[in-house]
Amino acid sequence: LLSWASPTPSESSFKNCIGIASIILNPSSPLYTQALESSQQNPRWLNSTSKPLFIITPLKESEVQAAILCSKKHKLQVRIRSGGHDYEGLSFLADTPFVIIDLISLRSIEINLAEETAWVQTGATVGELYYKIAQLSKVHGFPAGLCPSIGLGGHISGGGFGTLLRKHGIAADHVLDAYLIDANGNLLDRKAMGEDLFWAIRGGGGGSFGIVLAWKIRLVRVPATVTAFTVGKTLEEGATKLFHRWQYIANKLHKDLFIRIIAQNLGGSGSGIRASFNSLFLGGKETLIPLMKEQFPELGLQEKDCIEMSWIQSTLYFSGYQKDDPLELLLNRTTTFKAYYKAKSDFVTVPIPETALEGVWKLFQEEDALALMITDPFGGRMDEISASHIAFPHRKGNIYNIQYMIKWDVNSNEIEKRHVQWIRKLYIYMAPYVSKSPRAAYFNYRDLDIGTNKHGGNTSYSEASVWGKKYFKGNFKRLAQVKTKADPGNFFRNEQSIPLL
Ligand code: FDA
Repeated sequence: LLSWASPTPSESSFKNCIGIASIILNPSSPLYTQALESSQQNPRWLNSTSKPLFIITPLKESEVQAAILCSKKHKLQVRIRSGGHDYEGLSFLADTPFVIIDLISLRSIEINLAEETAWVQTGATVGELYYKIAQLSKVHGFPAGLCPSIGLGGHISGGGFGTLLRKHGIAADHVLDAYLIDANGNLLDRKAMGEDLFWAIRGGGGGSFGIVLAWKIRLVRVPATVTAFTVGKTLEEGATKLFHRWQYIANKLHKDLFIRIIAQNLGGSGSGIRASFNSLFLGGKETLIPLMKEQFPELGLQEKDCIEMSWIQSTLYFSGYQKDDPLELLLNRTTTFKAYYKAKSDFVTVPIPETALEGVWKLFQEEDALALMITDPFGGRMDEISASHIAFPHRKGNIYNIQYMIKWDVNSNEIEKRHVQWIRKLYIYMAPYVSKSPRAAYFNYRDLDIGTNKHGGNTSYSEASVWGKKYFKGNFKRLAQVKTKADPGNFFRNEQSIPLL
């Protein structure tokens, strides 16, 4: 990396090249550290010595174009940051001289209720979008993720799903048009970019094809009243049997019913396990209770467990707040779950035997930090969309997705090493029970353990296939074809960017 004791030779020429109103910070600027750290969701990455030479915060699209062209001219890599939630910090870090293009000031949201669409700039968060929709309508929503501070840039690029997944599919399924700036600084809408590139940016992952400035999305209808419940069970209360049973119905339930499980260890090593059945139903409790009696009676759902609310209140509920908390909490750009963590993901196509689940709990009990396994049911709308319709490939045949996570709160390399080793051990343990050839993974739960590009991102297609086929399955080759055409110089590259063919 270049030293910052004195200005680097390229600093003034870089600034002159940009020569516009964008805010440009370098490490000696008073606001640099704050700008770097403000949207950092995993403090692990703050320990990195890899710091950007500049943080550029464009105020309009022409400034994004200038930032790309000047970075290219000065042979600097770019890291694009929308919400900063990348699990491996790829919107913040690079092992080569680089700049961050921070989209935080480009976050307008324009809703056209008559058309049931919206234009959203990618610096906006999921929470800002939900809030804006709810200001105009109680019966519209958008099928994206649960955490309000996730940025719409990275999130939709990688797919994006939450409680409306079974009814409406994923966020990227609802993209109708987009504005993208390519490596030559061209501003392209859907027509100008062509259907192949438009296909690729819907689920093919952020950071490979250009900078998405804005998405045109289709809103979905939600009922005025929805019902949420969270029923927690310990092992003594039959959590394992219920989990096991859930696997046989989770993806076959009525489309309006989404029941996920959050399994976790309760405190220090050797302590118990709780599996929380955490659900959203698109309707009132008078419909939900008989439906649950018919489809999942073993859970024993009772009226007292059910909380009726509006859809927007459910977004608060699922992000860890109470339904009556102020909606303005959705506008907070920092996650409530901020902690040191490492995550991994899997897809399950055949129910996991009870004995194998017991083995998972044993591993959970070895950990003194918070160990989580979050299972999101598929089926419903997900079964109706072909695996190659957009670049996101995980459709019919998946019962559920698993996200494993280990979280700790002490900043220490030694402690980090121990926890990371633990989650890798869990991942190895799970291999016989999850999808195979390839063992699929969800791009938005980015995991560099599954493989990275070599040669500073100028990797070969076959080297990149090691990780690429896990995220994109049969769509990986087409993604590489699109990349070769859209960015033949491989300007947009990182540890897991789509390679040239
Ligand atoms: P960030 O800004 O870090 O970008 C992620 C990647 O996309 C980077 O490679 C970046 O360069 C690139 N990128 C960003 N903006 C771009 C743009 N405009 N154009 C092109 N590339 C761009 N997921 C999910 O599906 N459902 C969920 O419920 C959740 N919940 C959740 C909770 C929490 C606390 C975290 C930290 C994460 C999630 N996620 C999730 C995962 C989330 O979807 C994933 O991390 C997204 O990539 C985050 O997008 P950001 O824009 O915030 O990240």
